[in-house]
Amino acid sequence: VITKIKARQILDSRGIPTVEVDLFTHKGMFRASVPSGDPSGMYEALELRDGDKGTYLGNSVNRAIKNINERISEALVGMDPILQSQIDQAMIDLDKTEKKGELGANAILAVSIAACKAGAVEKEVPLYKHIADLAGKTNLTLPVPAFTVISGGKHAGNNLAIQDIMILPIGASSFGEALQMGSETYHHLKAVIAEKYGAHGCNVGEDGGLAPNISSIREGLDLVKEAINRTGYNEKIKMAIDVAATDFCKGTKYDLDFKSPNKSGQNFKSGEDMIEMYKELCADYPIVSIEDPFDKEDWEHTKSVLQICQQVVGDDLLMSNPKRIERAIHDSTCNALLLKINQIGTVTEAIEVVKLANDVPWGVVISHRSGETEDSFIADLSVGLASGQIKAGAPCRGERLAKYNQLLHIEEELGDHAIYAGEDYRQCL
Ligand code: PGA
Ligand code: ZN
Repeated sequence: VITKIKARQILDSRGIPTVEVDLFTHKGMFRASVPSGDPSGMYEALELRDGDKGTYLGNSVNRAIKNINERISEALVGMDPILQSQIDQAMIDLDKTEKKGELGANAILAVSIAACKAGAVEKEVPLYKHIADLAGKTNLTLPVPAFTVISGGKHAGNNLAIQDIMILPIGASSFGEALQMGSETYHHLKAVIAEKYGAHGCNVGEDGGLAPNISSIREGLDLVKEAINRTGYNEKIKMAIDVAATDFCKGTKYDLDFKSPNKSGQNFKSGEDMIEMYKELCADYPIVSIEDPFDKEDWEHTKSVLQICQQVVGDDLLMSNPKRIERAIHDSTCNALLLKINQIGTVTEAIEVVKLANDVPWGVVISHRSGETEDSFIADLSVGLASGQIKAGAPCRGERLAKYNQLLHIEEELGDHAIYAGEDYRQCL
């Protein structure tokens, strides 16, 4: 049983406070921490921050910590960590608010993850196996990694409007090989960029993607194409983009120059212009997935991208919110879910929304946040839920590699039973 829960404040990869918890059972201590990103709107679970401007610029999480150490701890000590849904429900009942704003979704999620880790050890099975059991799944699958190789948008200080240019090594035969392909492409890209823009072009963004000062999407895609050519892997590596278009939507237009100080106003695109641009990009590059091609409320235009690209991923569009997901399924607005566990707040609810997506069936991308920790839980989650895809940033920077390296460990542990999603990354249910 759970004997003690102790939380503390630590810093995430951006140097911003976040919640870490140590949960104790008779089997040992289980530690978990939660990530944080730029809030996408009113439908996501609420991250509790102290708001005292004199301390960490308002970002400290002492109230969330106190809630764990006092109220959550009191409710959960004595419970069996195997009973994930009961533990999560106990916290939801204690919180009583729709967005978990009373205790803080950051407080609740940290404990939920720590309990999940404890549950696995209690059952004496690997974490990914415990997650698969909780979800009622039998097939364990290593996901295709979507490596962010170029960063832009709000994640980097260059002029590139879109947030990520990613590569998906779907032609690899194992996760280990996919990681190698990702790393080699990344390093070739670094060389390509250094040749064209000088060494300062190789600075990285928040997710570890390279951030040369390019302003057009094509310029970025060309660099990545050249890097893939240099690796020789060619069609084994596909491309994807996260447009994160909500960040540069101005009324009904999209400002592709939103970060440049001396904008001419030439680069404002209408929804139709954007559609045209996506058509051309998908024709000229091996793009298999586009995330948030339009503003989070621009459902009609988003839907039309399904005619252009194999996969349309809803991130800000869905906010991992079951109601938004159900509506998007009903309206056929997109065909893949990006799951950010801290937008929903418990392991049980994360499993539930993945099931919603599986039933359609949609693709599922288990995702990191721009502010990450060394916790590798989402790696196990992606294998246990057989999500088929994981987005955890570049093959660079420790907090990103924590996830990819954990997938290496899992692949090694599964040995002959390891299955890499590969070409089936959209449906490996
Ligand atoms: P965020 O970005 O964590 O800053 O929201 C992640 C993503 O858009 O995939
Ligand atoms: Zn996104």
